Parts: sequence; structure tokens; C-alpha cells
Amino acid sequence: MAEHDLSEKRKEYFLDTPQKNDTFFLKGSSGYDWGFRNRLARIFSPKSGRTVMLAIDHGYFQGPTTGLERIDVTIKPLVPFADALMCTRGILRSVINPESGNPVVMRASGGPSILKDLSNEQIAVNMEDALRMNVSAVAVQVFVGGECETQTINNMIRLVDEGMRYGMPVLGVTAVGKDLARDSRYIGLASRMLAELGAAIIKTYFCDDFDKVVAACPVPIIIAGGKKLAEFEALTMARNAIDAGASGVDMGRNIFQSDAPEAMITAVRKVVHENMSAVQAFELYTELKNR
Ligand code: R5P
Repeated sequence: MAEHDLSEKRKEYFLDTPQKNDTFFLKGSSGYDWGFRNRLARIFSPKSGRTVMLAIDHGYFQGPTTGLERIDVTIKPLVPFADALMCTRGILRSVINPESGNPVVMRASGGPSILKDLSNEQIAVNMEDALRMNVSAVAVQVFVGGECETQTINNMIRLVDEGMRYGMPVLGVTAVGKDLARDSRYIGLASRMLAELGAAIIKTYFCDDFDKVVAACPVPIIIAGGKKLAEFEALTMARNAIDAGASGVDMGRNIFQSDAPEAMITAVRKVVHENMSAVQAFELYTELKNR
């Protein structure tokens, strides 16, 4: 109460300085509530506006993926290099230290294994458990054009509705099945649909004319790495995606299956956050690998 404020310092109301309305740094994300934006600002660096997410969720449908057989041994050393970790709740609880402090994007859809129709996914985590684990976003795979297209879209819509209630962003992942094209027409269709239906972040695959895909998508897009490429090729893909307007990468195999995963994630960070060229980043990778 004012009468208990015994400070002798003169009060200062800065009457000539109107309060500024700061705009939020991420594309299309100014309209969300505070907690929602706070979560987004943990995933994306407010300085660069981008993220290097480390994807280690592959086991949810393909079991012990090469490089992820022992996440406690091979992935833990990489965790400090990642802006965010994309994983399942099983791995989060059993292997990842809560002290790591990394924001987590938690895989929240699943069901079928590689032995079945992959598009037949259901929601795999409820919002209460995601909140209990203090994650920064939940991720759901959507199979546009897949056998269970509508079901997977419904999975996402249900998570978006719950997420809006609790301030939890939903990352919509555009699945690419063996029968689905990987061109800008398909990627543009899928990305735009997911954004229209409420995904706050889109994860998709890089393709030709990616700048048009980004332009037509009203929220940030990050790219998956896809199957393992030679390191220079993967760095070039990241560079091209950033140049086309991507807000970062969610890369898995091209990091953890690299001969030198720490060197690779360091090089990817330089491309994403410091605009390093692919050539320079590859030189850095080679130097770090040979140390
Ligand atoms: C795979 O199904 C997961 O969603 C991965 O998180 C995603 O594909 C990114 O990993 P990668 O860079 O290995 O493609």
C-alpha cells in the first residue's frame, strides 16, 4: 500500500514515454496468449528467429533406429547443442535429464509400426501429461493424401483445441509416405492445410521452389533432414532452406548418423543461426571432426 512505501527515492512515471507495444518476433504468432508465445520463444531463438531442433523420435514407429539404439550413450552428449529436443514421452522420462533445461517438442501421435499403414495414427499423449512434463510444444504427424488423412487431421485439430486451452503450441508434421510426392505442389498443399487448421509450427521437407511454400504458409516452417546424406549435401540443404525463408531445422539422421555428430550439429547451428555458407560450415565440420 502506498502509505507503507517508505522509500525516499522520488517516484518516476516517465510521463513523456508512452508504453511500447512490442510485436512478437515469429511470423504469424503475435495473436497467441502469453504462455503460448513464451513456449515458442523457448524453441526459437528470439535473436535469430530460428531453431536447431534435434529429432530423436524415430523409435516411435521404427524401433531402435541406427544411431538411436542407446540414446543415453549417443544422444546425451548432443543435447547441449540443440535449441530443442524432439522426442517421445517414453524417452523423455527414461533417459533425458530434467536438468538439461532444453525445451522439448514432444511426439504426440503414433500407433502403427513400419509393419503397418503408417498413416493410421492416433493421438499418443494427452495434454495433461504434456503439461506435467513441461514441454514447449507437441508434435503430430498428418498424412495429407494418405489412407487415414482425415483421421490424422482430426488428431491435429484435437491437439490444437486442447493446446489453445492450455497455451501449448502444436507442431504439425507433414508426413511423406512412399506414395506421396515431395514436390512444392504437395508440400505447399500440406503445409498450408496444417497452418489453416491451427498448427503453430510446420515441419516439412525441403523441395524445389521452397520459397513459394514458405511464402504461402502463414506460420514458421522448419525442415526435417530426411534420410542420411553426405555432410556437405545436408549442410547445403539446410543453407538453401534458410535462404528460402525456413525458420530452422528439425534434423535427426543427418546429425546422429553422421561420423561426427557433435561436429555436424555445430556446423548446422552456424548455418541456421549465423548465416554461414555451406562451404564454410563443411570446412568447420571437417576441422572439428579431425580434432
Ligand atoms: C520421423 O518420423 C520423425 O518425425 C523425425 O522427427 C523427422 O523425420 C526428422 O528426422 P530426420 O531428420 O531424421 O528426417
